[in-house]
Amino acid sequence: MVPKKITTHILQNMKAAGEKISMITAYDFSFAKLFDRAGIDVILVGDSASNVMAGHETTLPITLDQMIYHASSVIRGVSRCLVVVDLPFGSYQSNSKEALISAVRIMKETGAHGVKLEGGEEVMESVKRILAAGVPVMGHLGLTPQSIYKFGTYSVRAKEETEAAKLKSDAKMLEEAGCFAIVLEKIPALLAKEVAENLSIPVIGIGAGKYCDGQVLVMHDLLGINTEFKPRFLRQYLNLHEPITAAVEHYIADVKSNDFPSEHEQY
Ligand code: KIV
Repeated sequence: MVPKKITTHILQNMKAAGEKISMITAYDFSFAKLFDRAGIDVILVGDSASNVMAGHETTLPITLDQMIYHASSVIRGVSRCLVVVDLPFGSYQSNSKEALISAVRIMKETGAHGVKLEGGEEVMESVKRILAAGVPVMGHLGLTPQSIYKFGTYSVRAKEETEAAKLKSDAKMLEEAGCFAIVLEKIPALLAKEVAENLSIPVIGIGAGKYCDGQVLVMHDLLGINTEFKPRFLRQYLNLHEPITAAVEHYIADVKSNDFPSEHEQY
């Protein structure tokens, strides 16, 4: 039987039915194929590619062309899950026309199913213009890494009442504008619970606790490819850096000792 393709509509039904949504980042064909076959609901081609793929300290340097390269590789690996692509820093903040042009490029040049952008009221005109063109939009509130130099720290957001109130109002605005889902990053669990209960669209959390309608993690963190990044919210399901290092050390030793290739591994 051909598995059912995940759509934004199916995600809404999952929330209504109380079924949690699984989301993971991916940036290339091979991992996207593995995750799609494992049954993931949503792949996010995150601008975290700037950190984990390109080695930058922040998400700010990655370009729209680079995001398009990653997203089109991911799309070639999936046949079932929904693929959402981050609009990178600088590709939507100046005005809504620029935002629409960037979103259209992503949709046309990658074949992805929607875009994600960071912010609430301040990007609402762009959100509405992209939605009006028929492009599904996912919001992102709380810790928004593209604003890291404004925050000055990656610590938990919206602990104070004023910031929490703005987050709740932004979430409602994003829903009313027509977004199909919202990511909440690194905020108190009870605040995320309140937002999820007040919205009919899915709320996907990262460091936002168990009451969200779904969870997202960066693949390098979940698989233990990174060793340095260990925030409290992260559950590391594998220690992949260990077997990879051991395998490559073994290979180096085999090459040096002339053990590889053997008679059976040559023509
Ligand atoms: O870029 C990214 O990976 C993200 C997730 C952390 C939600 O935006």
